[in-house]
Amino acid sequence: MKAISFINLKGGVAKTTTTFGLAAVLSGVFGKKVLVIDIDPQTNCTTMMIGDDKWKELNSNGLTLYALFSEALKGGNNFDVSTIIQKNASGIEEVKTLDLIPSSLDMIDIQDKIASIPPGKFFAGNPTEILKRAIWKTGSNYDYIIIDCPPNMGLITLNALRISDGYIIPAIPDVLSTYGIPQIIKRVDQFSGEIAQNIECLGIVATKVRVQSNLHMRTLDELKKGKDAPLFETVFYENSGISSAAEYRKVNTLRQRLGYGEPYDTFKAFASEFMLKVR
Ligand SMILES: Nc1ncnc2c1ncn2[C@@H]1O[C@H](COP(=O)(O)OP(=O)(O)OP(=O)(O)O)[C@@H](O)[C@H]1O
Ligand SMILES: [Mg+2]
Repeated sequence: MKAISFINLKGGVAKTTTTFGLAAVLSGVFGKKVLVIDIDPQTNCTTMMIGDDKWKELNSNGLTLYALFSEALKGGNNFDVSTIIQKNASGIEEVKTLDLIPSSLDMIDIQDKIASIPPGKFFAGNPTEILKRAIWKTGSNYDYIIIDCPPNMGLITLNALRISDGYIIPAIPDVLSTYGIPQIIKRVDQFSGEIAQNIECLGIVATKVRVQSNLHMRTLDELKKGKDAPLFETVFYENSGISSAAEYRKVNTLRQRLGYGEPYDTFKAFASEFMLKVR
């Protein structure tokens, strides 16, 4: 099992879209067993995968990541994560081995309180290890765990990194989306040192690239030099087909869901590159 987080401090750079498309292709095309963990309180990846109605139902029954985090805050450490895993969750007929741990908008209320988790009987309570303590047994059932992170490096993201072997930085090749990349890498390195666990930067993936934009093309050339981190060869160009993949709907094939032609092919190329890098 390998766990990989998608991170960028900048919002709207296609972290969620890339997480979902990659996970769906790894399962639907390559037959891998994949668990998506939506750890972002915005809950976008969850509604992308299961739709708003299903999320509301799960949320009102307390079957989201919120249940795990609020239990941990009460000092509980026996949360059975299998109760919140949505099996075969994507609504895409062709995709049969893709599970989801859904997020909840209620996580917004809890993110500032996570720091005060009780230490517990053996002082093992640690605000960066809430996810780890819940997932350590179940995680080995999967080939890949892919985690969609919020656009910050707070405690929630640290919970994702704590269980991650590596991370990927999706970035639009413009000034604002690439600005924070050295800070992300530095901060993950520091965290990695603190917990004595390697968290590899697998690279930057260029998203929403506009060929007509000089700035995008120049920045892409800069990123290709690999100064901060290697750049994935696969490039996601701006494409309205990809943006409509965000809308949940029941379909038969992955092509239908991700977009015929370029979007589907790009996700597939990215997944192939991903599997070569994540070993
Ligand atoms: N290649 C693309 N072409 C056009 N639109 C895209 C592309 N990739 C993503 N989008 C759109 O860009 C928007 C932001 O994408 P997404 O939600 O995946 O970003 P994010 O980084 O997860 O955002 P946040 O920081 O809020 O979590 C969405 O509307 C999505 O549909
Ligand atoms: Mg997102």
